[in-house]
Amino acid sequence: MPGSIDIRITVNDVGPRDGLQNQRKILAPAHRVKLVSALLDAGLDHVEVGAFVSPKAVPAMVDTDRVLAELLTGDRQNNPVLTVLVPNLRGYELAAAAGAKSVCMVLYGSEGMAQANANMTREQADTVAGEILERARGDGIRVTSTIAVAFECPYDGKVDPGLVRETARWFLDLGTDELCIADTIGAADPWQVRSLTRKLAEEHGTDRLSCHFHDTRAMGLANVFAACESGIRKFDASIAGMGGCPFAPGASGNVATEDVVMMLEQRGYETGIDLDRLVRAADLARELTGTAPGGRASAWLKQARSAR
Ligand code: COA
Ligand code: ZN
Repeated sequence: MPGSIDIRITVNDVGPRDGLQNQRKILAPAHRVKLVSALLDAGLDHVEVGAFVSPKAVPAMVDTDRVLAELLTGDRQNNPVLTVLVPNLRGYELAAAAGAKSVCMVLYGSEGMAQANANMTREQADTVAGEILERARGDGIRVTSTIAVAFECPYDGKVDPGLVRETARWFLDLGTDELCIADTIGAADPWQVRSLTRKLAEEHGTDRLSCHFHDTRAMGLANVFAACESGIRKFDASIAGMGGCPFAPGASGNVATEDVVMMLEQRGYETGIDLDRLVRAADLARELTGTAPGGRASAWLKQARSAR
């Protein structure tokens, strides 16, 4: 069993951003708010609620300012961390103007992905991210620095772990609140994940580290396990397994939040999340989008409950 001091694991649901950006149906702001509210009701205290990106690039994220405004005025008991993704300075400025208290900015393990996602070189993306971090410090805004395609890129192939560690060190030294290792296309295997996360944990401790896995090759949960064994205590996941980047061909959904939570809770980790309510949020995601694949946990939990 896990030791008594590090049994708490934080799950950040990225479904309302990573998930909805890649569904066929574009949801109205009220429906996006409804989905986030269902997640908060289930006990999630970290949710990525949208993105300030070009409306041409990602039409599903239009009106993130309205989603955020609605959520920020709500009376939330668990005082959640509501994050928005920003790909560039313009996105940061829009997020700050909309009252965001937490942003996620994107760094890259490859040139190809930096170009496809943000029309920048890796170096430009690093520079922009440094500027955002500085601005955010002055504005009192929390920053997650996510290294996208940290294992493999759909354009450039395998990513050098040394480069990822260098980028991680740079942004941790600059004072990012969180550094997230993202397997954007779901290409990593658990041994790669173990190797990279162990080294990062040894070098930096795990307080500011997190991981983001997609389940393209059915290794999402195994990768969560591997990172967890390295001491990582924060994971992104997406309700009902929605997700995928429109600029990363071949990527499928994130590892499903309900599956991650079920696995961790079964082992005795505390997530603070109510599984029954989480299953209801997954049902809502399916109902609203019509295309959310759904994790494996829902069917099992529903039949286990009805058998009681
Ligand atoms: N939010 C909203 N609009 C933005 C923006 C942002 N963060 N950044 C730029 N724009 C607008 C510009 O104002 C400009 O508008 P105009 O055509 O009305 O004048 C237009 O977008 C083009 O600006 P430019 O700086 O030339 O951007 P680009 O065409 O090189 O695209 C990005 C760069 C980053 C804006 C675009 O690629 C993008 O939004 N990518 C996000 C990808 C994403 O969300 N991926 C999934 C998550 S990792
Ligand atoms: Zn993702």
